[in-house]
Amino acid sequence: MRISVYGAGYVGLVSAVCLAKLGHHVICADINEDKIKLLASGECPIFEEQLPDLLNEQLKTGHLQFSSDISYAIGQTTIHVIATGTPGNPDGSADLTQVFAVASQIAHETNSNCLLITKSTVPVGTGDQLEALVQTILNNSKKSYRVDVVSNPEFLREGSAVHDFLNADRIIIGGEPETLKPLHLMYQPLVDNGISLLTMSRKSAELAKYTANAMLACKISFINQISRIAEEVGADIDEIRLGIGSDGRIGPHFLRAGIGYGGSCFPKDGRALAQTARTLGIETNLLDAIDAINDQQKNWVVEQLNKHFNHQLKNITVGIWGLAFKPDTDDMREASSLVIIKALIKAGSKLRLYDPVAMSAARNVLPEDKLITWCKSAGHVCEEGIDALVIATEWQQFKNYPLSLLVKNLAGAPLIDGRNCFSLTKAKDANLTYYSVGRPKILSTERKVHDAG
Ligand code: UGA
Repeated sequence: MRISVYGAGYVGLVSAVCLAKLGHHVICADINEDKIKLLASGECPIFEEQLPDLLNEQLKTGHLQFSSDISYAIGQTTIHVIATGTPGNPDGSADLTQVFAVASQIAHETNSNCLLITKSTVPVGTGDQLEALVQTILNNSKKSYRVDVVSNPEFLREGSAVHDFLNADRIIIGGEPETLKPLHLMYQPLVDNGISLLTMSRKSAELAKYTANAMLACKISFINQISRIAEEVGADIDEIRLGIGSDGRIGPHFLRAGIGYGGSCFPKDGRALAQTARTLGIETNLLDAIDAINDQQKNWVVEQLNKHFNHQLKNITVGIWGLAFKPDTDDMREASSLVIIKALIKAGSKLRLYDPVAMSAARNVLPEDKLITWCKSAGHVCEEGIDALVIATEWQQFKNYPLSLLVKNLAGAPLIDGRNCFSLTKAKDANLTYYSVGRPKILSTERKVHDAG
């Protein structure tokens, strides 16, 4: 099949490359000329496992093309996948400007019947709005083409997006059965591999996307709230997670307690869903609570530091391991590290920061500040006698860091582990002072006397 994908962001780029891998002829179009030039030369602008190799493989087969000429992409096919961004508006609703812009250009320029597939995350009812917009444009220009609008939300995770596309738990397509026929063909290679293709109404598909993200965010906020209780009574949230996760009705996933979820999806999509509900006059207490608990959880690190240092954070030196919102990405959007860093700068602490891949992304979003030292490695963070070490992102290299070396470097300073990277037994055996989320605190026998003044 010939397919045009609009938008070369996370969703558009991964979808385009993977659709090419399935054997389709794909044009990925984006108005960002620099990005398109980079991609056409085989350079991948985002940090995403497997993507650079697959990009180059598909460029070589000739199945994949990049273009900054949207009209060219429109002219090449009748199957149009819209994968442009839907950033959050100040009131939480999704900004659909880019989605509508692409759809209207397609309606203006198409010379045949065609299919619009919305892959961008759009609020329920957007398909109806797109249909109306397209129809008005066609009527005004006296064109009698038929333009169908269907929904095909994505469920890719940053860091494993290629794997998630090619090994999806399910594919959802929403629209009138007749209009969905091309999508059955498009995904046939994945269906042949045993992946289930669920067909439903367009509105159900649109809402299913938000519901999935809200449910996952809900599990995280739920376990984080329970972790507060566990911490207070001396229970262990990781043991509780195993205890409840083995119940098939609950399941073990997305129940890792930590310092809150971030990224471009959960926070934004949760707020957009709540905004949709509000406009319908529906109470949003659960959705609001998920968001509020997440905001509170991002303060957990600073709460522990305040307890440990008796609210005297001025002039202490805090090392931070991990800046990205999660491992295996350089994405800093809504990262918990940002909340911690801003609070500690406000308190006058000196910071030594390190992330294996997100250093330049972090420098782009954090203000220049003389309190910040950008470090070359995890070891470098601890070199000059820090007063506390924080883990904000659970990169594998931190989990593998030899505890004997860490204990030596910390010399009694506390490790505030926002992602529960180490077992309590290991932390105790290593004689660490160790604070972790929803688990009993461990105090080293060589507790450092704080002299930051
Ligand atoms: C999320 C969804 O998982 C994807 O299915 C969806 O397609 C995507 O949003 C999207 O809407 O585009 P992503 O934001 O890449 O994917 O990241 P996740 O792996 O889901 O993690 C999100 C956040 O939750 C991270 O900050 C992570 O640290 C946190 N998390 C995750 C926890 O705190 N605990 C957990 O048990 C799991």
